[in-house]
Amino acid sequence: MTKNKKLIQWVNDVAALCEPEYIYWCSGTDEEFKEMAELLVKKGAFIKLNKEKRPNSYYAVSDPTDVARVEDKTFICSEREEDAGPTNNWVDPKDMKNTLNGLFKGSMHGRAMYVIPFSMGPIGSKIGQIGVELTDSPYVVCNMKIMTRMGPEVLAQLGEDDDFVQCLHSVGHPLGDNHQDIAWPCNRTKYIVHFPEERSIWSYGSGYGGNALLGKKCFALRIASAMARDEGWLAEHMLIVGITSPEGVKKYIAAAFPSACGKTNLAMLSSALPGWKVECVGDDIAWMKYGEDGRLYAINPENGFFGVAPGTSMKTNPNAMLSMTKNTIFTNVAMTDDRDVWWEGMTDEKPAHVLDWLRRDWNPSLHRAAAHPNARFTAPAKQCPVIDPNWEDPAGVPISAILFGGRRGHVIPLVHQSLSWNHGVFIGSMISSETTAAAAGTLGQLRHDPFAMLPFCGYNMGDYFKHWIDFGKKTSADKLPKVFYVNWFRKGEDGKFMWPGYGDNIRVIKWIFERLDGKENYVENGLGLVPAAGSIDTTGLDIPQDTMQKLFTLSKEDGMLEVDEMRKYYALFGDHLPEELNDELLALEARLAK
Ligand code: OXD
Ligand code: MN
Repeated sequence: MTKNKKLIQWVNDVAALCEPEYIYWCSGTDEEFKEMAELLVKKGAFIKLNKEKRPNSYYAVSDPTDVARVEDKTFICSEREEDAGPTNNWVDPKDMKNTLNGLFKGSMHGRAMYVIPFSMGPIGSKIGQIGVELTDSPYVVCNMKIMTRMGPEVLAQLGEDDDFVQCLHSVGHPLGDNHQDIAWPCNRTKYIVHFPEERSIWSYGSGYGGNALLGKKCFALRIASAMARDEGWLAEHMLIVGITSPEGVKKYIAAAFPSACGKTNLAMLSSALPGWKVECVGDDIAWMKYGEDGRLYAINPENGFFGVAPGTSMKTNPNAMLSMTKNTIFTNVAMTDDRDVWWEGMTDEKPAHVLDWLRRDWNPSLHRAAAHPNARFTAPAKQCPVIDPNWEDPAGVPISAILFGGRRGHVIPLVHQSLSWNHGVFIGSMISSETTAAAAGTLGQLRHDPFAMLPFCGYNMGDYFKHWIDFGKKTSADKLPKVFYVNWFRKGEDGKFMWPGYGDNIRVIKWIFERLDGKENYVENGLGLVPAAGSIDTTGLDIPQDTMQKLFTLSKEDGMLEVDEMRKYYALFGDHLPEELNDELLALEARLAK
């Protein structure tokens, strides 16, 4: 238990509101995971997978209405509407508390309320933070055990008076007197609400992913970004990798891409170029602070991967496949006849029969997917064969480069480097990407997703841009990471991807690595610095020179359309838009006009 006064009071208050049957303090041990998983098996929520094939692994399918993050039901309830900004949903915190108090009243009837003390980041790290999630979902407990560091060590770290982030979650499905439950309890009414000043989260009605595992998007991005603004650090939607060259030189890179755009693949890339090694620190979130030497240091606040399964295979991401061979939870994939898992893209040959994610018989003659496109695996990070030796260093790893990227079929070149820090902030703000299944809504539509933070920024995005500009002033230019924009997804006239992607992306990383060492391997186009002809290593790659060239072409017309679109987008932020970004837009326009 705990002596923390705020925690004791809060647990009592929430219990009085939600009226659970009993309160259970989680220990975070392996035994507890097994017990909780067995409980879920009894309820019909988990199926234990074949222990020869996937030891200690479980399979769950969700309610078909509860399969992804619900952005339209996600709120930033800051005191002032202006502080939530034009890209977030806002409701007055008092009104929202009234609504939530009504919804949470008695919402845990007949259920346990689990208390999950968790650390985001290695326990004791100066960059890490502590949270406590109260939830009525044992599925959430099992996932949080993998995704965070959880248990009494966290309470010990918390002490009597320390603060923590309050994360309250209910599936919104109280049980009647007979305690009859269903496999995936949830509620059609959903609210994912953040109170940034209070540093608290209230999530109601969903049991899925980022809606329910509150350490991830809700805390580590939305609440943490507001903390980072106030305290002068960065909480970002970025993977972190260590890259070692054949000469044995190692550099760390952080990279922001919108959801389901290949962050996990880049984080564990197996290199197509001999001698280059990629090691993974994290695949989704980076918290970064300046170290005493003036360089930027990053930790991965998470302890596991909550990765998109479809499309993952021994060819596309062998290290992800090897990370999930045991101790893994699979949600909304398909199950094979021998109680293993399968999804689209996992094997060249499709299985003759599986149970699909809706528990229906499926065979390849049916022209529908067997796994939901946002099906996920939850796997411990330490199981990744290429986990970086420093991934749990409480001091973090030093970042030499920041990559931004999106899914853009046209216009944006394979890679370009920014001309300065402010220009780097500009290209971060410029990310737009085709929408994916990670969020509920239409797929494949181009939308602005600045810094890949559109669904995750816990305050006014205009102020967030300003925070990034100011952040660059806190150290000398030579110590700041260099900034690049990559686009693996450019398509040719035939509609096919021009660049092979996956393991071949190391070729672009190699060019970036050389830029970091000051190699003069670039030319300027209007956008920034692009590789000089022949400076991307294509050894062993069958790609016509003509395609290599097309990957970098930018017509004046396309460039100007991009400028017009940015001007319209920037207008959204009114006087919250830092003038430095307007200057960058004008400078880009002038360069393109030349
Ligand atoms: C994720 C997401 O789950 O970005 O990481 O949606
Ligand atoms: Mn993500």
